[in-house]
Amino acid sequence: MTRVIAVLAAFGAMLISTSASAQLELAKQKNCLACHTVDKKLVGPAYKDVAKKYESDKDAAPRLAKKVREGGVGVWGQIPMPANPQVNEAESLQLVKWVLSLK
Ligand code: HEC
Repeated sequence: MTRVIAVLAAFGAMLISTSASAQLELAKQKNCLACHTVDKKLVGPAYKDVAKKYESDKDAAPRLAKKVREGGVGVWGQIPMPANPQVNEAESLQLVKWVLSLK
């Protein structure tokens, strides 16, 4: 019986932590974290800074998702973000929404 409870508890904890860490995992898998971290500037801006910058910009998500796919430069400095063809439209939008939720 205690075993069953332990298994259920572990499963519950897993469900609770899924959404945020799943996005982090996707970002890792798609190589975003080679240039970004959540809270420190690396090659690209910290994701928390990105979230702050677009806090009041309702249309930012689709625009940034397109930029993630196609690349771009000039918003954060002179280092360009190369195109990321390894993410499709849905994945790029999912990642950007996650980035914008980090504050
Ligand atoms: C080779 C390094 C590199 C990789 C890989 C990379 N980025 Fe970037 N990213 C950058 C740089 C540099 C900038 C700043 C571009 C600028 O100043 O316009 C940036 C900017 C951004 C921005 C803000 C764009 C803006 O206009 O404000 C977002 C959002 C972002 N990246 C998400 C991602 C995601 C999601 C991935 C993974 C699919 C990713 N990046 C992969 C280097 C990278």
